[in-house]
Formats: sequence, structure tokens, C-alpha cells
Amino acid sequence: MHIQDLTDSGFGTVITDVDLAELRDEEWEQIYRLWNERALLIFPAVFLDKDVQDAFARRFGNLEFPRTAISNIGKNGEIHQEPEDDVVKVIRGNEGWHHDSTYMPVQALGAVFSAEIVPDEGGLTGWADMRAAFESLDKETQDKVSSLSAYHSYYYSQGRDGYLPSEQNADGTYNAYGFHDGEACLRPLVKIHPATHKPNLIIGRHAHNIIGMGSDESEEFLDALNEFACAEERTYFHDWQEGDAVVWDNRRLMHRVTPYDMSKPRRMWHTRIAGDPSTELADNYT
Ligand code: OGA
Ligand code: MN
Repeated sequence: MHIQDLTDSGFGTVITDVDLAELRDEEWEQIYRLWNERALLIFPAVFLDKDVQDAFARRFGNLEFPRTAISNIGKNGEIHQEPEDDVVKVIRGNEGWHHDSTYMPVQALGAVFSAEIVPDEGGLTGWADMRAAFESLDKETQDKVSSLSAYHSYYYSQGRDGYLPSEQNADGTYNAYGFHDGEACLRPLVKIHPATHKPNLIIGRHAHNIIGMGSDESEEFLDALNEFACAEERTYFHDWQEGDAVVWDNRRLMHRVTPYDMSKPRRMWHTRIAGDPSTELADNYT
């Protein structure tokens, strides 16, 4: 196994010369340790099939969902590209920095994510380090954010960006993943990472309505915090080649996709690893 840290971002490691389908115990132990240390592991040109991708993800934890296409290519090969298309709305929503599933009662642990078809331009995935972001805040702001909690909701994030699905149920709910019908999930803005024991910001586009602030004040505060947190020096953008796979730590990193020409096909595969309810459950859920 060959291991090379990324140099500019403070997180992320490229691993080559490894067969993820047939890991030896000591290779797995090293991968798991590196994942906690580096938060993003990149495996170039490994071309994982569904079973191998899901089995690799299962080593980290239970699956929130098995390998699922994140794509503008429809079931019959048609390309979803019109702005009012619900598939397009989900993809465009991913252009905003976020942690996965913070709008669900148990936020995701991470994801194994791989590229099958990529456009020539755009469609990079970026990650931003919320541990480094917290460390970079001045002490006063660290203390302030450490005392705050916000709601997380996909209704909020998709609604704010104009990406709610076209079809709504009579009770106001939607039938798409993430629009779960319980109360919006309440989460502290700063969470101690269960493996590293370091504080990490948990923010992003799904966070809204900080307790004790008015809606406008909260939105302004979170917009500024998100912008600061995702400053370039704390990010890495991966320019995908077909067959690349990554695994990231959703408790430390936010991520986003960069815009691309939606008439060009892109098909990524996402296996979402479930968070541990003992550490990733929202405060208002039991
Ligand atoms: C996701 C996501 C970004 C991308 O699948 O959760 O945010 O690059 N994807 O497609
Ligand atoms: Mn995502």
C-alpha cells in the first residue's frame, strides 16, 4: 500500500497499490487509522463494483443506504438538465457546503463515493475541514459558537435555494429522501469528534434558526460562519477521473459539488455510512 498525504489542505491522503476487495487485516487497520487522522482517503482508478463498494463502506459502520447513483442520467439514459426537474434540483442543492444527513435524526458517519462518468469541466467534489475551521476562530468566537445550537432541515436548505420538489403531499411533506416528517433536528454548532476528541463545527446549508436568535440574525451569522469555515486554505477539490473512489469523515468535513454543464452526463455512486446513534443523534431525538 502506498500512502501520500495531500500537502495544501491539512487533510486528505491518496492511497494506491491496494485491493479494497481483499484487504489484509493490517491494511484495513492502517486505512481506518488514516481515515480518522486525515478525514478523506482517495483511491485513484480502483473501479469498485457495487458489492465491493458497499462491503468496504460496511467496514466503517452500518449503511444509511447502499450504493446509490448521484447522477443526471435517468433510468433510460435520458439526461436530466432542466432547472425545474426534481433530479436537477437535488444535484444543484449539493453545490452548497454541507454535512450529509444532518437533517436526519442520526447524521451520517461518512460516505464511500466513486466516479463512473464525469464531465470534462466542473463536477469536482470539494471538502472543507471543520476541525481546522474551529481551531482558526478567535477564542471569543470559539466560546460563542460552542454555546449555540441550530436546527438542520432539508426543507430549509432546498427551500431557501428554490429546489423543493415539484410534487408536495396534502400535509406539506415530500416523498424524496431527506424530507423526513419529524421535527427539524437540533444540533450543537460544535461537536466533539468521537474518535479524535477534537471540536468540529457542524454547520453548512442545512443549519438554520440558531436557538436564541431571530431568523434573520441566525441566517446572517451562519452565512458568515460557513464562508469563513470553508475558506480556500481549508479545502481540497478533487478533479475526478473515472474509477476513482474516496471515503470521507462526515463528522469533520463538509463537502459540495462544483457546477457543471447539466447537459453533460455525470454518474457518481454514493454509499452512505450511518452515524452511531450514541454520538450522532440530534439533541431533540431519543
Ligand atoms: C452527495 C454529494 C457531491 C458530488 O452525494 O452527498 O453531496 O460531488 N455529492 O456529487
Ligand atoms: Mn452530500
